Amino acid sequence: MNEKKRIAVVPGDGIGQEVIPLAVSVMDVTEVPLEFTYFDWGADRYLKDGTTIPADGFTMLAREFDAIFVGALGDPRVPSNVHAKEILLGMRFKMDLYANVRPVKLLDESLCPLKNATPSDVDFVVIRENTEGVYMDMGGTFKRDTLDEVATQEDMNTRKGVERVIRFAFEYARVNGRKKVLMADKSNVMTYAGGLWQRVFKQVAQEFPEIQRQHMYVDALCLQMVREPRSLDVIVTNNMFGDIITDLAAALQGGLGMAASGNIHPGRTSMFEPVHGSAPPIAGKDIANPMGAILTGAMMLSHLGLAAEAKKIEAAVLEAVQQKKTTQDVGGSLGTKGCAEWIRKKVGE
Ligand code: NAD
Ligand code: IPM
Ligand code: MN
Repeated sequence: MNEKKRIAVVPGDGIGQEVIPLAVSVMDVTEVPLEFTYFDWGADRYLKDGTTIPADGFTMLAREFDAIFVGALGDPRVPSNVHAKEILLGMRFKMDLYANVRPVKLLDESLCPLKNATPSDVDFVVIRENTEGVYMDMGGTFKRDTLDEVATQEDMNTRKGVERVIRFAFEYARVNGRKKVLMADKSNVMTYAGGLWQRVFKQVAQEFPEIQRQHMYVDALCLQMVREPRSLDVIVTNNMFGDIITDLAAALQGGLGMAASGNIHPGRTSMFEPVHGSAPPIAGKDIANPMGAILTGAMMLSHLGLAAEAKKIEAAVLEAVQQKKTTQDVGGSLGTKGCAEWIRKKVGE
């Protein structure tokens, strides 16, 4: 008998509130003991009483939960986006979840916008540095709101931060039977940060002689992702580039509604969230694709050592895609609930 897994659930804003409870219902139908505890952190709560995350929120999450399952944060009623910054980036930074793992896996030919691409052509993973870079939000403004205004935004890269995420990428390759790690940067222009990434990449690669080391400028990588995704295996890159290329990568899988991710610090309470945002224009209409959230749930279960349950969920999602039991964005005619319900039934069989 497996030990009970305690999971904190933060649906957040917009379509997060629709897809997350449905993904929870899919995980709940598996036969392992999972205990889900919901938190109402998000725009509604912030607008009601000013709370983004309670004072001891991060320590409480780390102490009381095995994993965190998050929807999306972002609401037009909070233009400053302060709640998203404090909750989502707060978890990533304050819980030190330094590796954002974003698998890019095409489930079925019908989902890919590339001509003749098959599932074996699109099967790679992006490991995005998740605790530094321009996301540190260091910088400032000078002579604000004048014609002489100056704005700076700094890109902070520490040797420790770069080294641990690069090592994570090589270890990920080793454990998952992947053959290559490609580091993407813009070291032809961002020479200081890029230089550090280049040197550390070469150094860490020596510990993994069986894994091939490759480098590409991130702009060239975007071209490669579209022209020859088959050549890609494990990609490691900084926070901002990782953010950008994973939306492009989501398109290769059928769109943002299909993409899963995990924010990981090995050995610590980690956080799992679909790649998509809160999608305000489609929220509350029962049209958002729940598959990204459901696949994220599978990724979380796998991380918690429940690989059989994760595979069962992934197989059910694959079957739903093949049978067109999907939402409209990926060619079906079901609503958010109908699609998730079909998958839940399949998993429960
Ligand atoms: P978005 O991901 O919400 O939407 C981008 C496009 O993808 C839209 O056309 C949307 O309709 C579509 N889309 C996204 N998810 C979908 C789904 N599950 N099914 C079908 N279509 C889907 O990105 P955005 O519009 O740039 O941002 C909206 C808000 O979400 C902003 O406040 C942003 O900051 C926030 N955001 C949050 C996260 C997060 O919490 N992890 C991620 C990205 C964006
Ligand atoms: C993502 C999102 C976030 C990011 C935003 C909402 C802060 O785009 O998770 O991909 O930039 O990391
Ligand atoms: Mn993003």
